[in-house]
Amino acid sequence: MKKTLTLLLMLSVFLTGNARERQLFDEGWKFLLADSAQMASPDYNDAHWRLLSLPHDWAIEGDFYAGNPSGAGGGALPGGIGWYRKTLNVTETDGVSYFIEFDGVYMNSTVYVNGRQVGYRPYGYSSFEYDITGFLNKGDNVIAVRVDNSDQPNSRWYSGCGIYRHVWLTQTAKTRVAHWGTYVTATPSKNGKRAVFDVEVEVENPQKGMTVVNILLDANGKELARKNASPKGQAMHSSMAINNPKLWSTQQPYIYKVRTEIRVGDKIVDVYETSTGVRSFRFDSKAGFSLNSVPMKLNGVCEHHDFGCFGAALNEDALHRKLLKLKQMGVNSIRSSHNPPAPELLNMCDTMGLIVMDESFDMWRRKKTQNDYARFFDEWHERDLTDLVKRDRNHPCILMWSIGNEVLEQWSSAEADTLTLEQANLILNAGHDASTLAKEGELSVNSLLTRHLAEIVKRLDTTRPVTAGCNEPNPNNHLFKSGAIDIIGFNYHHQWIKDVPVNFPGKPFIMTESVSALQTRGYYMMPSDSVFVAPKEWWLPYTDPSFMCSAYDNMHASWSSTHEETWDVVKHTPYVGGQYIWTGFDYIGEPTPYGFPARSSYFGIIDLAGFPKDVYYMYQSEWTQKPVLHLFPHWNWMPGQEIDMWCYYNNADEVELYINGKSQGRRVKKAHGEVAPGNSILNTEYHVGWRVKYEPGEVKVVARKAAVKNGYPEIVATQTIKTAGQPHHLRLTTDYKGKTTTFVNVEVVDKDGNLCPLAQDQVFFEVSDGMEIVGVDNGCQFSMERFKDNKRKAFFGKCMVALKGSGKLKARAVGLEDAEMEIF
Ligand code: GAL
Repeated sequence: MKKTLTLLLMLSVFLTGNARERQLFDEGWKFLLADSAQMASPDYNDAHWRLLSLPHDWAIEGDFYAGNPSGAGGGALPGGIGWYRKTLNVTETDGVSYFIEFDGVYMNSTVYVNGRQVGYRPYGYSSFEYDITGFLNKGDNVIAVRVDNSDQPNSRWYSGCGIYRHVWLTQTAKTRVAHWGTYVTATPSKNGKRAVFDVEVEVENPQKGMTVVNILLDANGKELARKNASPKGQAMHSSMAINNPKLWSTQQPYIYKVRTEIRVGDKIVDVYETSTGVRSFRFDSKAGFSLNSVPMKLNGVCEHHDFGCFGAALNEDALHRKLLKLKQMGVNSIRSSHNPPAPELLNMCDTMGLIVMDESFDMWRRKKTQNDYARFFDEWHERDLTDLVKRDRNHPCILMWSIGNEVLEQWSSAEADTLTLEQANLILNAGHDASTLAKEGELSVNSLLTRHLAEIVKRLDTTRPVTAGCNEPNPNNHLFKSGAIDIIGFNYHHQWIKDVPVNFPGKPFIMTESVSALQTRGYYMMPSDSVFVAPKEWWLPYTDPSFMCSAYDNMHASWSSTHEETWDVVKHTPYVGGQYIWTGFDYIGEPTPYGFPARSSYFGIIDLAGFPKDVYYMYQSEWTQKPVLHLFPHWNWMPGQEIDMWCYYNNADEVELYINGKSQGRRVKKAHGEVAPGNSILNTEYHVGWRVKYEPGEVKVVARKAAVKNGYPEIVATQTIKTAGQPHHLRLTTDYKGKTTTFVNVEVVDKDGNLCPLAQDQVFFEVSDGMEIVGVDNGCQFSMERFKDNKRKAFFGKCMVALKGSGKLKARAVGLEDAEMEIF
C-alpha cells in the first residue's frame, strides 16, 4: 500500500513537470501618490513609500472637496497619479514563462519590469495580462506600475484610483493554454435529458507529439467524460456528451468543470480549468424571458463597482454581502453597469444563481464627459471588447452582452462636450430632436458602428444575444436601425412599452434600465400621496436644504418613475422580459438631484452602508415567497401631526393598523388595474396606507389571512413600532461575517431598546490588537466624514463599521452607554 502511494506520488511529480501555477500577487507592494519617470527604475529608492496590499483605491482614503476634479458627480474625491512597486524574485528561467495579470487598474496604467515598459492600458475597467518572461532576470526584479487618473472627469460616477482589483502571477511551460484560451459551451437537448459540452482550446507554442485532453468533472470533481481534442481552425476541439445533466438555474446553479490537460509524451505540461453550466434560455417577443423553459421575469438591478467605504477596492466579502442582500430581496439578475465587472462578481453570480448582463462601455466615440473613454475608443474598443468577451464567455451566469449604455451615437449628432459632469448625467435623459434619428433606408455610420461592435462579440460568442441600454425608444434610433441589437432594451420610457410590438415586431424586449427613484433612508416627505419630481426638468437645478429625498416611494427624477409605476408595467406586460432597476445599492458619485456637498447617489434600494430603504420590502413582497410585513415610517413625531403610515405585505389577505390599541381600519391591497400606480394614492396593488394623527405610544400592524381559524381570521404576522425615548445606549449587531471582513451595524436605542430614529450621535470605535477598522459609513449621501476613520455619526439612528481580523470592538458615544462585541 505504502509502496503504491510513493510510486503514485513520484509519478504525479514526473507527470506534471512544468504545469501552471497561478497565484495572487497582491501582497507587499510599495505605493506613493506622486509621479516621476525615475520611479520605473529598479534602482529607485522606494524605502520610504507606504507598504500595502492590493486591491487598493487611494481616492477613497481622501477627503471630499468641491474642488476635486471629479466633481460631486465623481464623488468629489481626489484623483492624481500614483505608482506601485514590488520586487519579484525569480529562481527559474529555463523553459518557464511568467505572466502578470491585472483584473483592473483605474486608469491609464503603464507597467514596467526592471525599468522597461511592458505595456499600457487606458480603460480602467478592463482586465489584462502581460507576458513578462523576456523582461525578467534570475534573482530580484522590480515591477513598477504607473496609474494616471489625473484627467477628470472620465466616468459619470466614482471610479476609484489605483490597482483596485487583484493581481495574479502565473508561471507556465512554454506550451500552454493561451490566456482566456478556452471556450466551453454546454448545450442541453430540447427535453433536457442530454447535454453536449463543446470545448475549444487555444494552445500557445504547440509541440510535436502534443495531446490536449479535456476532462469533464461534476461539482464534486468526479470525472464524467474525457476526450482528446483535435484541431479545428486555430483551436483544439473536443465534444463530450452526458445524460441527465443537472441544469444551471437561479434556484440551483449547478456548476461543471472542464479540466484541460496538455501532454507532451508522458508529461502533463499544462492544466487549465474552466467552469461551465448547462442551461437554455430564450428571449421571446411575445412571452418574454424563460430559463430552462420556465417563464420568469428578470428581476434585475444595475450596479456600479464601488463598495461604499471600501471605494472601488475589491473586497470579496463586501461583494458577497452586496449580492446576498440583493438576492434576499428577490433580485435574480445583475447588470454590470456600465463596464466590465470584477471577475469575482461573475464567479459569485455563477454559484449564487444570479443572471448577468455583461456590459462593456458607457460611451463610444462621442464623449459624455471631458476626459472619458471616447478619447481612446477608436484605438482600443476592439481590444477591450474582445478581452471582455474572451474573459467572461464561459460563465454560465451571463446571458447577454451589452455593447453600450445610452451612447450618444443613438442620434446623428448629440454632443455633451460642453457640459459639466452633473449636466452630462442629466442630458442623457433630456430627449432629442427627431431630426437626429435615422432616415428611411439609411444605414448611418452610427448603425454601422453598432454592427461592428455586435460582430466583435459574435465572432467570439454565438450563444448569447447582444443588447444595448437605449434611452431613445424611437425605432429610428441608429442602434436599433442597425438590426444588430438582438434584444431591444429601453432605459426608462416605460410609457413607450405598449408600442413595442408595433415598433419592433418580432423582437424580444427588456428594460435595460428603469426607475431611478430617489430616496434617503429614514427621511419621509408628506403627504406621501404626492409624487415629488426632482429636478422638474433635466436642465433645472434642484435645491433643498435637507439634501435628502423621500423614502416613501414618492420621489423620482423627471425622466424616471416611482418603483411601483415601472414594476406595474413590467409585471403586467407579458412581452417584457424584465427590468434592471437603477440601482440596487447607492453608489459614490452622481448625487442627482443635488450638487455638492451631496456626493453619492439617492437611486439605491439599499443605502451605501448596506441598510435597506423601505422599498426593499416592496420588492421582497412581490419577488419572493418570504413572508413580508413592513410598516413605516417610525413613530417619533409631533403630537397631533398628520402622518402617513405605509405597509408592504404578502401572504396575507388584509392588514389592520392600531394606534395605542385603537383600530385605524383594515386595508387590502388593490386589485390589478383598480388604480393606476404613480397616481398619487395611499393604497395600490403594492402597498396600503393610513393617514393618521400621531400620538406617542405605539403603532401596530396586524396581518391576517381570511381563512377562519377557531371562528377568527388567522393572524399571520404583526409588527409594532414604539415611540423611542431619549438615546440611552448603543446596540451592535453583526450584519455580515465574511472570510476576512465583518460588518457590524450600530443602532442608537432608548433604555428599552427602541431604535431612536432621529439620532445623530457621533459613535467612536476602538478595536483590540488583531483587528483593524477598514471603513465606516451611515448611508448619508451628503456626509463629509471620512470613510476611513474610527468614528461615524449615526444617521437616522444607524451607522456601520467594517472590520478585519478578530478581537473586541467597542463603540462609545457621549452620554450613552458603551457597547462591546467579540468578533471571532
Ligand atoms: C441613466 C444612466 C445611468 C444613470 C441614470 C440616473 O441615464 O444610464 O448611468 O446616470 O440615468 O438616472
